[in-house]
Formats: sequence, C-alpha cells, structure tokens
Amino acid sequence: MNKNPTSIETCKTRAIFTKNARTAWAKIISSASGQEKKKILLPSYIGYTDREGSGVFDPIQSSASDFVFYKLKEDLSPDLEDLQQKMNSDIDIVLIIHYFGFCRTNLKFIRKLCNDNDAVMVEDCAHAFYLSTNPLELGEVGDYSFYSIHKYLATQTGGLLKVNNGQLSIPEIHGHEAATASVVEAYALANFEQIAEIRRINYRIFFEQLQDIQEIEILFELQNHEIPQTFPIKVANNLREKLYFYLMDRKLETTALYYRLITEISEQEYPTSHSISKSILNLPIHQDISMDQVDSMCAEIKKFFKTH
Ligand SMILES: Cc1ncc(COP(=O)(O)O)c(C=O)c1O
Repeated sequence: MNKNPTSIETCKTRAIFTKNARTAWAKIISSASGQEKKKILLPSYIGYTDREGSGVFDPIQSSASDFVFYKLKEDLSPDLEDLQQKMNSDIDIVLIIHYFGFCRTNLKFIRKLCNDNDAVMVEDCAHAFYLSTNPLELGEVGDYSFYSIHKYLATQTGGLLKVNNGQLSIPEIHGHEAATASVVEAYALANFEQIAEIRRINYRIFFEQLQDIQEIEILFELQNHEIPQTFPIKVANNLREKLYFYLMDRKLETTALYYRLITEISEQEYPTSHSISKSILNLPIHQDISMDQVDSMCAEIKKFFKTH
C-alpha cells in the first residue's frame, strides 16, 4: 500500500479534451469504425456556413462513411417511428443531437434500439453542457457523448469527448487534436452551476416577455434543471430575416441555427426540417448577458412586431 495515490485513473471521468466538438465526433467515428466504411444514422437537421462548414457533417464526409437521415418532429426531437424504421443491422452508429440543450425524446427507447441492432449510440451535446453522472441523464446514455466548450465558455476553441461505455476505450488523440492549456484552465475554473443558473434566468425572462406575441412560437418551455444554449423561437410570416437584421442594426446579435441545411437533406423528404430552418431564430441567453439586456432585446422585438 502506497502512502499517496499513484493512479490518476482512479475516480476519473473517462473523457479527453479535444480541439473542438467536431474533432471529438471525428475520433468517435474512426474509433467505432476502425478501417471499415460504416453507416451512420443521423438527424435531418444539420446546417453549414461558408465560414465554419458543418460541425456535424464534415467529419462524416471526411471519413467517407455512408449515412442515412431520420425525420425530426416540430420540437427537433427524433421521430421515433422513422428512426426505428431506418434502424437495421447495417447501421453502425446512431447520432442524437440535443438541439439547443433540450432533449424531449425517450433516450431509453433509442438506447434499446441501438443495443438490439448492435449499433453505437452517440450523443451530440455541443449545445448541451450537462456534466452529470446520473446514468439516465443527457450525455450519459450514449456509448459516447461529445461537447463544445467554446460554445459554452468564452474560449476560442475546445471540445470534450466522453466515453460512457466501459467496454470502449478512450480514443487516442494527437497534439493538434487536443484542447489548449488555456481551454483546460477555463474549464477547470468555470462555475458551471452559476452559468447554468444565469442561462435559466435569462431564458425565463425571454419566455415571459415573448409568449404573447402572435408571430412568435417558442420552441421549448424550460423544465426544472434544463440548461439552455439559446432561446430558440420560430418567427412566422417569413419575418425571420427581417427581424434578424432589424436587431442587428440595433447591435443586438442573434443567430439562426440552422438557416441553411446541408444539401443532402432535401425539402421534399424533410419538409419539417426545412420549415424550421426558414423560421428559426436563436436569441442569446449566455452568462455575459444581464437581465436588463434581455429586457431591451424583448422591447425591440415587441416594437418590431408593432410595425410589421
Ligand atoms: C450540433 C452541433 N454539433 C457539433 C458542432 C461542432 O462544434 P465545434 O465548433 O466545437 O466543432 C456544432 C457546431 O458547429 C453543432 O451545432
């Protein structure tokens, strides 16, 4: 018996810090597939921009994997019937994305479906910064889950790859695929509970102030301990673009995730995804935003709808 601990593996989360979420996802694909070409079942709401490409789809294309999409419902949760229909023994990896930090599906059902078909289940938590160890919670159900640190903390880069299945090894990463020391420091020093609480408070203010605007559909009502990434709304009457630029002119930044879907997701086959893509607007609720700033943005949004 040693007088001091000698194994850093004891009581350690089985995870590695990566350069960003897409690096983690690419590592998962290559670990799960080895040398063979594999087939990935994916949600049909994946976007891209000219500047950043597609964080979800680029690693799939780089690995030359086959892919097939499953349908999503109006709240971006998987259409379980379609998922089940497309699931078969050919599918090697199933990706679940917890859009904007929300998970309104039956993860246990998907877990069982993956087990029954011998598929690896992966949770994309790039928008969902849950670091729980409760085995039934978001980020803990998949064989792997991955996170985007720079979408949550004020860092330029950073990702995390978590291996929940004890039978799977932690992928090896090379120097250029790892997170920088400053990202790891920001992560180690961050007060995640406080950050989550500020996000919830800002979210609730948006909800209260915008719920009566007819042209706005709020995607999610916040439940107890959910940690939102943004406040997603659908804007009716093709007014999304106008509202986006109206706010931008007033130095109020928003995003539209995803205003442009990858071309592999056709409107004909996935009309719900396209209709969400055309109307979505994500309002910021992050920890740097004060309640007063949320109030001002709400006031501008109300003003906009009085005149449009
Ligand atoms: C759902 C989702 N997954 C993964 C990524 C990739 O994140 P990162 O920029 O950390 O590679 C993004 C963003 O691009 C995303 O929106």
